[in-house]
Amino acid sequence: MDTAILPLPTCTLHRPRTILAIETSCDDTSVAVVRDGRHILSNVMASQVALHNQYGGIIPELAARQHMESINAVVQAALDESGCSPADIDAVACTMGPGLLGSLLIGCTTAKVLAWLWQKPLIGVNHLQGHVASNYLASDLEPPFLCLLVSGGHTQFWHVASYTEHHLLGETLDDAVGEVYDKVARTLGLSYLGGPIIDTLAQQGTPCYTLPIARTKQAYDTSFSGLKTASLRLFERLQAEHGTPEGSIPPEVLHNFCATFQHTAVRTLLKKLEACWQGHASIQQWAIAGGVSANSLLRSQGQALAERCGVQLHVPKLSVCTDNAAMIAAAAYYQPLWQGVEVWEQDIFARGSAL
Ligand code: KG4
Ligand code: ZN
Repeated sequence: MDTAILPLPTCTLHRPRTILAIETSCDDTSVAVVRDGRHILSNVMASQVALHNQYGGIIPELAARQHMESINAVVQAALDESGCSPADIDAVACTMGPGLLGSLLIGCTTAKVLAWLWQKPLIGVNHLQGHVASNYLASDLEPPFLCLLVSGGHTQFWHVASYTEHHLLGETLDDAVGEVYDKVARTLGLSYLGGPIIDTLAQQGTPCYTLPIARTKQAYDTSFSGLKTASLRLFERLQAEHGTPEGSIPPEVLHNFCATFQHTAVRTLLKKLEACWQGHASIQQWAIAGGVSANSLLRSQGQALAERCGVQLHVPKLSVCTDNAAMIAAAAYYQPLWQGVEVWEQDIFARGSAL
C-alpha cells in the first residue's frame, strides 16, 4: 500500500489519552479502548480457538481470513462497549509484530484506515512490549522492574528500566514454555489450547515423577527442549506401565504426570528469575506477563519466591494475560510518539513478522 496517499496527522505533542488498539498477531481478533494507559473502557475479543481446535494447532491462512471476517464487528463492539465515539478517540494503535504476517496485515490495515478516516495518529506497537504493559492495566506499577515474559512464542527475562527502555537479559535457547505446554498437551490427546488444560489437570495431582531442570551456559538464559523430550518419554513409559490398549492412562496417573510437568516448568522459570534478580538486586519489583502468566502454579510459587526475596510481585489480571488489545493500548500510551516518531512513515507491512 502506498502510504503517501493516506495523509495522517503529524506528530502529536501530548500523550493521547484515549487509545483504540487492535491486536491480531495470532489467532484472536481483539479491539480495546483504554484511557490513560491504565483504565480499560472495553476489551473485546473474537476467539478462533474452536476453528483451530479442529486441526490441533493454528493454520495461518485460516487465521487471517477469520480476522478479516471479524474485525469490523469487533471494532464496532469495542466502541459501543466503551461508550466512545470516534471523536473521543485520540489515537489508533495496532500490533506491528512479531506474529503471523497475514494476521498482522489485517489488524494493521484496519488501524491505518481508521486513523486516516478519523484523522488520528497511528501508533505501531511491538507485541512483546504489549505483554509487558499488561501489568500497567488497572494497576499502579511503575518501572523499574524485572519481567518474566512467558507466552506461546517467547520465554524472556527483561529489565524494564523505564517505560521506554527495556533490556533483554536472557531468553530460551530453543522452545518457548507455552509451546511446550501445547505440544505435551497434544501428545496427551488434549484439545488445543493445551496450557490451561494441563494447568487444571495438574492441580488435581502430585508431582511424584522426576523431570530435568535445564542448565545453560549463560546465567539468564533457559531451555525447554530437554523438558519437552523427557516429558514425552515419561508419558510413553506411563502408557507402557498403566495404559489401556488404546493408549490412555488412568486419570490419577495423568494428573500426577501433569503436576510433575508443571512443577518442573515453573521451577525452571523461577530459578532463572531469581538468578536475574541476584544480578540486579537493587530492583525491588518483579512482574510476569504473557499467556503462561495465567498459570496457577507460576502465580502462587512466584508470589512465595518474591516474599522470600523481599520483593513485590506484580501479575496481570487473568483477563489480560493472553493476547488482547488492551495491553497494546497500554504499551502505545507509553510509547514516545509525542517525541516525533511518525510510525505511519515506517513500512509496517514489510516489518510484519521480522520484528
Ligand atoms: O501470550 P499468548 O496468548 O500468545 C502468544 O503471544 O504466544 O500465550 C499463549 C500461550 C499458549 O501456549 C497457552 O497454552 C499458554 O499461553 N497458556 C497457559 C495458560 N494459559 C495460557 N499455559 C499454562 N498455564 C495456563 N493457565
Ligand atoms: Zn502474545
